[in-house]
Amino acid sequence: TPETMKNILILPGDYIGPEVMAEAVKVLEVFKAEGEPIAWSFGHLGGAAYEAEGHPYPPSTQQAARAADAILMGAVGGPKYDGLPRAVRPEQGILGIRKDLGLFANLRPALAYEALAAASPLKPELIAGLDVLIVRELTGDIYFGQPRGRRKTADGHDEGYDTMHYSVPEIERIAHVAFQAARKRRRRLCSVDKENVLETSRLWREVMIRVGRDYPDVELTHLYVDNAAMQLIKNPRQFDVIVTGNLFGDILSDEASQLAGSIGMLPSASLDANNKGLYEPIHGSAPDIAGQNKANPLAMILSVGMMFKYSFGRTDLADRIDAAVRKVLQDGKRTGDIAQPGEPVIGTQEMGAAVVDALRTSK
Ligand code: NAI
Ligand code: MG
Repeated sequence: TPETMKNILILPGDYIGPEVMAEAVKVLEVFKAEGEPIAWSFGHLGGAAYEAEGHPYPPSTQQAARAADAILMGAVGGPKYDGLPRAVRPEQGILGIRKDLGLFANLRPALAYEALAAASPLKPELIAGLDVLIVRELTGDIYFGQPRGRRKTADGHDEGYDTMHYSVPEIERIAHVAFQAARKRRRRLCSVDKENVLETSRLWREVMIRVGRDYPDVELTHLYVDNAAMQLIKNPRQFDVIVTGNLFGDILSDEASQLAGSIGMLPSASLDANNKGLYEPIHGSAPDIAGQNKANPLAMILSVGMMFKYSFGRTDLADRIDAAVRKVLQDGKRTGDIAQPGEPVIGTQEMGAAVVDALRTSK
């Protein structure tokens, strides 16, 4: 294999995972046919991995994931696996691969498609043109801080406690990811913290300002997290890139995802220090619609776009995928999750085929 060949590991996952992944593979096939140096192979993760190899993140997947240049993942989990012991449950597969590959930066765009304006809970005029990217630190903060546990207070009550902490290197590396992402976009970065109350946040802000000196072309601003939550609803278009810690990012990214409408539309990336990444839709395995050709494959297809942009530096291919998705929406193609009452509905495969058609004609 030549040095430039990009190797992609595909982990279809469970329930609708393989269905939406099949459509993403069709997109890869279009680019491969155009001569792009990409190759891919398949592996198991989650429930499918437990069934095939007895573990949700088996050694075969581990080896392939470490060797790959990027990973595409469908969702994992579902009722079939709910009775399994915790250690082999599908979610352990996701946590395992994130930890193993050091995927500390979670990127989640929230984008309002004009054709879907009616699907947003906000007024169309508030979200028209909305294009926000949330960069969430994924491996630190209060979720992993020690000590944590239960103890007795002096006056004999039970209490629970957790510890929030961030080290300078942890803040620096997420800062660089966020500034670089802003550079590929509209060059504005808003760092979200709770600096008025938390020592962790004071350090966070100091480091953001310091790292910002390396990116004089990016405008850095700061918001307290409570205000940021409010601003996302009040005037979401003021944002380009938002960077924040694990806890605040968990909440703000879910909030932002709803602005744009359907869960079936939103991709995500989880990156390591070298822009190796794992790309997946933000939705789950949707057992309620699995096996019926009903799932919206666009979040998975847009995840392929993010892979080209962030792992392979191919913004041109990412833009073509974005444009193809816009075109099929403009043409009125709708899976059930994004259809308004009375609109005709197409299936997973038909939506994938429509994107492929739009891509072929966009070369
Ligand atoms: P979900 O995201 O799978 O489904 C929520 C609702 O959205 C359902 O009504 C579903 O039909 C719909 N939906 C989701 N994706 C869709 C798509 N592409 N097209 C059309 N409709 C779509 O969340 P839920 O039901 O809470 O979880 C189901 C399973 O997925 C659980 O086992 C959960 O643990 C797992 N899950 C896995 C994730 C991952 O692998 N990253 C993330 C979230 C949940
Ligand atoms: Mg969450």
